[in-house]
Amino acid sequence: MRNFLKVAFFSLLVIGLFAGFANFGIPRIEPAPPPTEEKIDLGSLTMDQFLVLGEKIYKGKGTCTLCHNALGGRAPLLEKAAAVTAARLKDARYKGDATDIESYLVESMIKPSAFVVAGFGKKGTQDAVSPMPDVSAGSIGLNEVEIAAVTAYLQDMGGVEVTVEIPEDAGDSAAEDEEQQRKPYESAEDIISEIGCGACHKVGEDEGEQGPDLTKIGAIRSAAHIRKSILDPNAELSKGFEKDLMPNDYGTQLYASELEMLVEYLAKLK
Ligand code: HEC
Ligand code: HEC
Repeated sequence: MRNFLKVAFFSLLVIGLFAGFANFGIPRIEPAPPPTEEKIDLGSLTMDQFLVLGEKIYKGKGTCTLCHNALGGRAPLLEKAAAVTAARLKDARYKGDATDIESYLVESMIKPSAFVVAGFGKKGTQDAVSPMPDVSAGSIGLNEVEIAAVTAYLQDMGGVEVTVEIPEDAGDSAAEDEEQQRKPYESAEDIISEIGCGACHKVGEDEGEQGPDLTKIGAIRSAAHIRKSILDPNAELSKGFEKDLMPNDYGTQLYASELEMLVEYLAKLK
């Protein structure tokens, strides 16, 4: 009987301690609310705020800094992009319709091949085709207001006069954007080229060097490992590569069916 009481008491003590620990010792995990599209009230926006919006899109949703950064050398730095426009427009290789800095910058974003900065063209095209995606389409999908904000930001950063005017209302186009879900990509190759995996990886015709070579990834990695590497790049780092380099939001950018298509494609590269 005495032993029984001892055991019972001890068990209660352990349970009590555990409950206390579970309540106070373990930090509670609150699921973060899903990100909502930022609603922009253009009517009340000052130019300074518009420039901040441009910078946010440039570094965030626009994914510009994935390629335009000082690390990779995969794309020209844009600090002076606005300032070199005059020279671009006079260049014999220029094929676009822009007439001034503002229209050149917009054109660079939605028709990147109108002028390809020497040495930065897609491999084997003699600088005729740009590896940069149309940022108004695909998974980046910037709308007109967002492109205007980025253009203003590039002008400001380039030290030229900001000629972009804050659009009067984004009402209609923003509403349309929300309704119009993007069409799924048709193939893994489309995903890779539109999303720009090749900016960092050797894959397909791209020769990115910031991440591991993916041309034979299926020979050394399972589909499960590849899926995990895309969804949670920091979970298991490839040897010799830095963490926090590969974007960690492909899981939210891609539809589930697209992710599977991509994984299946990569797993077959042997
Ligand atoms: C997948 C990589 C990639 C992404 C993402 C990307 N770019 Fe580019 N961009 C390039 C490359 C490569 C070039 C050089 C070839 C060319 O001129 O098209 C370029 C050229 C440009 C130019 C012309 C520069 C000049 O000196 O004439 C501008 C402007 C530009 N990008 C802006 C942007 C902005 C703004 C974004 C984000 C909204 C962006 N890019 C996203 C790769 C990228
Ligand atoms: C900004 C550069 C960058 C971009 C863009 C990028 N990656 Fe990566 N990726 C990396 C780096 C760096 C690593 C190695 C570190 C790590 O494991 O996170 C990596 C690792 C990987 C691995 C694991 C490789 C291995 O040997 O285990 C896979 C698979 C992969 N990336 C696929 C992709 C795909 C698919 C895309 C496009 C949807 C993509 N990456 C876009 C930089 C990038």
